[in-house]
Amino acid sequence: MQPAVGVVLGSGLGGFADAVEEAVAIPYGEIPGWPRSTAVGHSGTLVLGHFGGAPVAVMKGRAHLYEGVPPAKVVFGVRVLGRLGIGSLVLTNACGAIDPSLQPGRLVAISDHLNLQGSSPLIGPNDDTLGPRFPDMSDAYDPEYRALAGEAAGRLGLELGEGVYAAWLGPAFETPAEIRMIRALGGDLVGMSTVPEVLAARHMGIRCLALSCVTNAAAGVSPDPIDHEQVLEVGARAAGDLVALLREVIPRLGSS
Ligand code: HPA
Repeated sequence: MQPAVGVVLGSGLGGFADAVEEAVAIPYGEIPGWPRSTAVGHSGTLVLGHFGGAPVAVMKGRAHLYEGVPPAKVVFGVRVLGRLGIGSLVLTNACGAIDPSLQPGRLVAISDHLNLQGSSPLIGPNDDTLGPRFPDMSDAYDPEYRALAGEAAGRLGLELGEGVYAAWLGPAFETPAEIRMIRALGGDLVGMSTVPEVLAARHMGIRCLALSCVTNAAAGVSPDPIDHEQVLEVGARAAGDLVALLREVIPRLGSS
């Protein structure tokens, strides 16, 4: 089976993998070179199968820069999926909302990003077999895929916003001053993942759709402290909506 669509599941969102049909699950530990995820809420399994008729490869669990995994290793899985032949990649994540109108549980399609992680998986000698030295990032978050996701959300009666995702190195959550800075820079959402994977995928010419689940108000936006348990809990509650949305969208990505 050659997968057409890759899916990366973020914190608390692993439930989607259970909906994959004819699934073959391979623990990351059995795949040479694949980094093991140490983050709580991330199991480490590659699930190959079908979803809504489309051949898919699902990464249940991802590596993050804050784990101390080198940038090129963080994107090892995405590059494997690229080599397996995916043309589309759907990335999910949990995020904090800087825009106070985005309540916990809301799903948001990422429209663009700010890379504030101080690193990139593309640094170092370029592997020309993967892609060009200076890849374009103008439409990193595919406008056609975002439109498909918006239409699918409409059919399901789900509200799907759009926003700019700022990638923070972590592992500490941001300070309120850092959130004010990110807001001034144009960020609507903040998280610690996704951007390295999108850089690697776009480098290989893979079209990306990234869906964030708001799990909390960003630091200082609400007076409450940020708690990783809440991030996982809210993510798990929103997972049903996310699976419904993915079920609508994924079969259309393979063919568009
Ligand atoms: N900041 C960074 N990463 C996150 C957050 C946050 O507020 N919530 C979930 N992941």
